[in-house]
Amino acid sequence: MRVLGIESSCDETGIAIYDTERGLLAHRLFSQIDMHAEYGGVVPELASRDHIRKTLPLIEEVLADAELRTADLDGIAYTAGPGLAGALLVGAAIGKSLAWALGIPAIAVNHMEGHLLSPLLETPAPEFPFVSLLVSGGHTLLVDVKGMGEYEVLGESIDDAVGEAFDKTAKLLGMPYPGGPYLAAKAELGEEGKYVFPKPMTNRPGLDFSFSGLKTFAMNTWLASEQNEQDVADISLAFQTAAIETLALKCKRALKQTSRTRLVVAGGVSANKALRQTLNAMKNIDVFYPRQVFCSDNGAMIAFAGAMRQKAMDKQPIPTFNVRPRWPLDELRPPENP
Ligand code: KG4
Ligand code: ZN
Repeated sequence: MRVLGIESSCDETGIAIYDTERGLLAHRLFSQIDMHAEYGGVVPELASRDHIRKTLPLIEEVLADAELRTADLDGIAYTAGPGLAGALLVGAAIGKSLAWALGIPAIAVNHMEGHLLSPLLETPAPEFPFVSLLVSGGHTLLVDVKGMGEYEVLGESIDDAVGEAFDKTAKLLGMPYPGGPYLAAKAELGEEGKYVFPKPMTNRPGLDFSFSGLKTFAMNTWLASEQNEQDVADISLAFQTAAIETLALKCKRALKQTSRTRLVVAGGVSANKALRQTLNAMKNIDVFYPRQVFCSDNGAMIAFAGAMRQKAMDKQPIPTFNVRPRWPLDELRPPENP
């Protein structure tokens, strides 16, 4: 079964084709970052307009890469949320229309499920069950994953997402948007122990996160410093270390609480090298990540999640039908749009 995936929830247009027999056949990504960097953040209307320009050409390119025609597709998966409404509507409208025209199913995919399943595109793929740490610009989530679609949120950020805190701290230190990768690079030049930042919400039980205080701590340290290049590096390192150690500590707690031995990490911040080093050092735990290019938003994870959902649906028995010899009028409900 071959499923075309369309990702358009934010500032990346991602298109891919996943084949349940042969794996990932092709993927293409267009990042709008250069366009938004000028404004210091994503401008939703510009994002939607650019998705309109890029989606169809990228679909054509991906089909050509995979040497397929639209008639060879068995389903179209599109990101239905969470994300920017206008941007989501572009992918949904194109995905649904194409599916209707081809007479194949359109599968609405949750963007976070896409991230969560993205390490399953790798070899070896993690087996269910596992604990998942989802770290992106919009979310910080710890999830107990029992199987496909069986998710229990164990903890989440009560304020800024970790990627957002990286970006805001980077901005304060004069780095371009999105600053996470720049801050990570600067941290490599920092002097260890020059500054030690607090690890928010680690001295009390629970699996929720809070990162906005860490960002404020970074700001106060910056304002009290000489504000030179070495201060940028030292503050970057102190911020990154506190954020990572907080994430690692909560992961350990979540694994213990659920008695899982597998940890799956995904989302933009999972590209962070220091985070990977810290998590890989955990004893008796197998850690899985998506490849670098699939840490951020991409079409492959949407095609994959869509294919898994469609495959599971196909396995369900053909719905039976009932007639009702007795059917009181007052059990009827108004018609609903699906
Ligand atoms: O998953 P993603 O591409 O988009 C969202 O759905 O949010 O995540 C983007 C986030 C941004 O905040 C970006 O700064 C952060 O991931 N990020 C990083 C690194 N690479 C990307 N943060 C820290 N270290 C990195 N190496
Ligand atoms: Zn994302």
